[in-house]
Order: sequence, then C-alpha cells, then structure tokens
Amino acid sequence: MQTTQTVAACALDELKSATCKVVSIAGKTILVVYDDGRVFALDNRCPHMGFPLHRGTVRDGILTCHWHHAKFDLSSGCTLDPFADDTPSFAVEVRDGMVYVDPRPREPDRRIHWTRKLQEGLQQDLPLVLAKSVIGLVELGAVEDILTLTAEFGLTNRAAGWSTGLTILTAMATLLPTLAPEDRRLALYHGLVHVARSTANQAPHFDLGPLATGETTATRYLEWFRQFIDSRSAEAAERTLRTAIHMNLPQDTIATMLFAACTDHLYLDEGHTLDFANKAFELLDHIGWQHADAVLPALLPHLVSADRAEERESWRHPVDTPALLSAAYAELEAWITEGTRHPQAWSGHEALAEHILDEEPAAMLEAMGRLIRDGVPLRELASTVAYAGAKRLVHFHVSNEFSDWNTVHHTFTYANAVDQAIRRASSPLVARGILDGAMSVYLERFLNVPKQPAPRPSGRPRTAADLLATFDGYGHVEEAAAIVADLLATKHHDQVVTALGHALLREDAGFHQFQIYEAGVRQYERFAHSRLGDDVLIGVTRFLAAHSPTVRATGQTFRTAERLHRGEALHAEP
Ligand code: FES
Repeated sequence: MQTTQTVAACALDELKSATCKVVSIAGKTILVVYDDGRVFALDNRCPHMGFPLHRGTVRDGILTCHWHHAKFDLSSGCTLDPFADDTPSFAVEVRDGMVYVDPRPREPDRRIHWTRKLQEGLQQDLPLVLAKSVIGLVELGAVEDILTLTAEFGLTNRAAGWSTGLTILTAMATLLPTLAPEDRRLALYHGLVHVARSTANQAPHFDLGPLATGETTATRYLEWFRQFIDSRSAEAAERTLRTAIHMNLPQDTIATMLFAACTDHLYLDEGHTLDFANKAFELLDHIGWQHADAVLPALLPHLVSADRAEERESWRHPVDTPALLSAAYAELEAWITEGTRHPQAWSGHEALAEHILDEEPAAMLEAMGRLIRDGVPLRELASTVAYAGAKRLVHFHVSNEFSDWNTVHHTFTYANAVDQAIRRASSPLVARGILDGAMSVYLERFLNVPKQPAPRPSGRPRTAADLLATFDGYGHVEEAAAIVADLLATKHHDQVVTALGHALLREDAGFHQFQIYEAGVRQYERFAHSRLGDDVLIGVTRFLAAHSPTVRATGQTFRTAERLHRGEALHAEP
C-alpha cells in the first residue's frame, strides 16, 4: 500500500525497458532512472545551467549531462564536478511492480545547501556557483552569513593577509542601502568573486597566539605595536595586536594602534594601507567585534611591507616635504590641545581646498596649523583634504598618461580613509594623515595642467539612462561629466548615485573603481546639498567613465544565475 509521502511514478517493467522516465509529481519534473538493478529519482533539471537531464547518459551509477558534461551520482544527486552544483534527489520505493517517489527533496534545508555551495564556490573559485549561492542566501535573508563566511574564508586562506577582495566585499556591504535594490545582490556577488580570486592559489595563514602576560597597559601595547611595525617585525606585531585584542582593550584603543602605525610613515602604499585598516574595522561593524582576532591581524603583512613615501624621490625633491611634515607633526599635539579649548563651527572648506590645491607646501601647512589652533575640528579638515583630492579628479586632463588617473585616485581615496579613521578614533597620531594627505594633493598639481574646466549645467533635460549610455563607449569622460552636471542642477542627486553604482556593477570593474565609488559616496554624503558634494560626484563620474566599458562578463554570469533561479530554460531558443 502506498504511504502518504510517496506517489506512484511508473510501472517497474516499463522503466526497465526505457531506462529513464520523466514524471510530473507535485509540481516537480522528476527523472526516474533504472540502472544496474536499482531505481533512482532526480530533479530533471541540470543544476548547472538547466539542460534536461533525461537527455544525458546513464552508466555505472552515474548520470552525465550532455551540455557541459557534468556527472552526477544517481543515488544522491551529488555532482562529481563542483562547477555544476548538486541536483535534488528523491527517495524511491518499489512495491507490487510499481515505482513510488517521495517528492520531498532529500536535502530540504536550502540555507544549509547554499551555505555549502558558497564555501565550495569560494574554495574552487567558481563564479556561477557563487552567483547562485548569493541569490539563494539573499532570498533567505542571510546577508550576514554571506559576509561572515566569505570573510572567514578570505582571512584564513591567505598568508598574504587582507586582500583587495575583502575591501571590495566590505565596501559593497556598506553601500548596499545606497544602491538600487536590483543591484544589491550583484554588489555582494562582485565582492565574493574578488575574494575568491584574491585567495586562489594562496598559502594559508597560521595564527600566532597571544602572549600569556600580565602587561595590561594600553600605552605599552601602542608603543610596542608601532615599534614593531616600524622595524617591519611582522610576528612581533601580530603577537602584540592579538594580545591587545585578547585582553579586551577598548575598540578605539585597538583602532588607534592600527591607525597610528598606518600614519607613522608618510602616505603608506599610496594610501591603500590606511584604507585597508578602515575597511577591516568596517567589516567588523558588519559581522561583529567577536571576529576582531581573525580580521585585524590580517592587516599586518601589508602594513609591515608597505612602501613609505618619505623614501620616494618625488616627495624629497625639489621640496623636502618629509622635513616640512616632520616639523608640523612635532607641533600637532600642541595645536590640537590649543584648538580644543575653543572649538568652532567652520565653513571654510572651499577656501582651504583651493589653498591645498594651489599653495606652496610650507604655507599650506602653516595655514592648516593655524586652523587647528583656532579650533576647527579635525574631521572638518580631513574632509576638506578629501574634497581637494576630488577636485584633482574634476580637473584632471585626459592628455595626461592614462595611468595617472590612478595617481589622483590614490590621493582622493587616502584622504577619504583619513577622514573615516578620524571619525572612528580621532587622535593626534591619525591627524598626521590630514597633513600628508594634503601634501599628496599638492604633489599632484601638475596633473591639473592643463586644467580641465568643471562642466557647467547646459539646461538640457537629462536622465540616468543618458548617463549610462555614455559608459557604453570608450573615453566619454566629458560627456558623462556634463550629463551629471545637468542632473545635479535639476536635483537628481540620488539618481546620479544609484546610476553610478549601476554603471560600476555592470562592468568587470577592478579594485580602484570600487574603491573610488565607495569613497565618492562617503564624501558626497559628507557634503550633500552643496556644490562640494556635486564636485565629488563629478570627479568620481569622470574616473568611472574613463575606465568603461569592459566586456561585462561578471554581469553576464550573474544574469545567467538569475535566469536559472527563475526557472528559465537557457538551452531553449529565446
Ligand atoms: S552540465 Fe548540465 S547544463 Fe551544464
């Protein structure tokens, strides 16, 4: 007698002679297979790209799909080829010459399934599997799981430490609410793809344990840590940081340790080092401070090996900028102390930015020192330097070497990183980054010669679609900037931000495109509803337009996963 869970599928004799039968049970198309005296039931849709499995070949307990030749174990539906995913399998019973199938999949928990697939996709660097996993897990509301699992994977399996992939993942997670709803899954997918790529073929990392120590003084850990980073002693720095974390020193103390080490030398690795440190703290904002022990030490390989700008000729000649900065740093704490006695509201951002862009460095540092002593908050000065960096992008002339886009990009994103670090854990140590960021803006003044004029609103009606169309052709930098100027003049700021996000995500964007979009949104929000915010968006637009279009393969993979998720037949004629 039939149980309540199983449904009659076909007669056994009929199946024996046909080998395979496709049956429709409880809304599912199920493939029933007879092989070597046993009966099996699988979902008839190949989990890879949807080809009907009944058109495959069955032999020796294995079904092979004919489209990309993925192989599946008949008894479980598990694939022998991880690119293909597992196909749901169903329990069967043979009674009284009839085959019965239980239409409930053997693995009903989709969260467990997609979590496992996410891990396999990261391990094997399989973009389509990652796309399907993101879609599946986002549908289940498991965004935090995606971030936590991907972060754990990217941190554990990379001896080289923090990666550009983790930076992209974190930046996209932070910007999810800013992006158009239809772009949010794609944003996470980009992060996963870059983490998998950054981790492929890398040696794993083995943690050093904390010290078993009675030393509890926070300043001692700060001194040790800075000293070990200065001498490029990665192991000693790791044990110091890990011990400070295990002792539960306050989060802003830990942040000060890292930010101080990032600013003990000038403009480390063109600003990437401090930006990575910020992103590590932002990742912890998403997944929880309990992961600090795994996340923060990953910064150290990069921190100890970073290029120090004071060792660069361009920073030494013809002006010895490290000497100027060193003199200013010696006064900085006293300036800040004096300023905190009479803090003031301040609105001189634009004037100071012009000073930073065009003034000689000694005079510029003197002006900034005066403002600090006058009580202008450090965060106002930090965001002004970021704004000056954005103006370099606005006026960058395309007659420069193409690679010099990166030069102005680095300064802008570094200045943004200083601004974010000041907001997280302000101290005289991290405030040094305001000054070397301003110095970097000064050093790039020749990239605004000739000076590209800022676009003026034309009065023409424009749409986000007009803007996106300019990204379809190479080098439409000024056209894109002009359209953004028109959109901003008509108060379509939100449309510009989401359209730029869409323009970014539909490309095979590299690290710098993600980095500049994130920094641009942060600084735009800082200066929203002002001409300064508009300038930031125009600068970011010009950079993104200069780097578009690409072949857009990442988006194609993601769209394929979306179509499969909707149940579309990719193999059928459109
Ligand atoms: S292997 Fe079956 S569709 Fe690709």
